[in-house]
Amino acid sequence: MSRSQAALLGLGLLLMLLLYLGLPGPPEQGSWPWAGPNVTMLAGLTSGDSPIFYREVVPLHRPHRLEVVLLHGKAFSSRTWEQLGTLQLLAQRGYRAVALDLPGFGNSAPSKEANTEEGRAKLLERALGDLKVQNAVLVSPSLSGYYALPFLIRGHHQLHGFVPIAPVSTQNYTQEQFLAVKTPTLILYGELDRILALQALRHLRQLPNHSIVKLRNAGHACYLHKPQDFHLVLLTFLDNLP
Ligand SMILES: *[C@@H]1O[C@H](CO)[C@@H](O)[C@H](O)[C@H]1NC(C)=O
Ligand SMILES: *[C@@H]1O[C@H](CO)[C@@H](O)[C@H](O)[C@H]1NC(C)=O
Ligand SMILES: *[C@@H]1O[C@H](CO)[C@@H](O)[C@H](O)[C@H]1NC(C)=O
Repeated sequence: MSRSQAALLGLGLLLMLLLYLGLPGPPEQGSWPWAGPNVTMLAGLTSGDSPIFYREVVPLHRPHRLEVVLLHGKAFSSRTWEQLGTLQLLAQRGYRAVALDLPGFGNSAPSKEANTEEGRAKLLERALGDLKVQNAVLVSPSLSGYYALPFLIRGHHQLHGFVPIAPVSTQNYTQEQFLAVKTPTLILYGELDRILALQALRHLRQLPNHSIVKLRNAGHACYLHKPQDFHLVLLTFLDNLP
């Protein structure tokens, strides 16, 4: 292999890696239809202070009562759930699903409100209100725990289900606070994630109504490593929620 071939190969691999990590794209405005079997994909910004960019799928058939809200980890954004096919799959199964870009990620501008624990909970609550999400099941991987945990602890009565995937910030809450949360919870993590996942598990298992699923041969971003297993486990949990 010549040097230029090797350089080209290296560049190709780097590009693939960048795509894999989900580079933030140019700002997207308004809403557009997404061409897929019976799936309409919308996108836009919530109104008011700290606008949040979202992607949303609307189920055309047999809409389920529950609505799935997907947050994201540090190297990702709402785009990840489109690339992975999670949004489309949920729509096909009759769920309305919304993926958000957290402030400072993807197409959402940074927000001062995100500096405090209370601010993060309020910001998320306002985004859900703005999007008229009423029966939320919250999916929260990794970094998004900064938002999801304060929201869970303060506003669990607004959550019909919770799917933490090795979220940060679980250590900040007491047993008493966890015990008060009756929200059905699916604690999901990758077998190879031996640090954050286990720390989160230690705290989250204090939640009174939880089940635990460990995805084999998957790391911290287990939904990327084993998307089929992830989708199956998520749908099974959703389909069995009251
Ligand atoms: C799309 O809609 C058509 C007709 O409404 C239906 O027959 C088909 O099964 C749907 N496809 C999917 C993937 O849901
Ligand atoms: C957790 O608590 C520590 C100490 O009170 C604080 O500095 C930190 O910001 C908190 N982290 C989160 C994610 O709330
Ligand atoms: C626990 O969660 C499951 C759904 O995962 C639900 O069917 C059940 O009613 C819940 N149990 C209690 C005691 O709330």
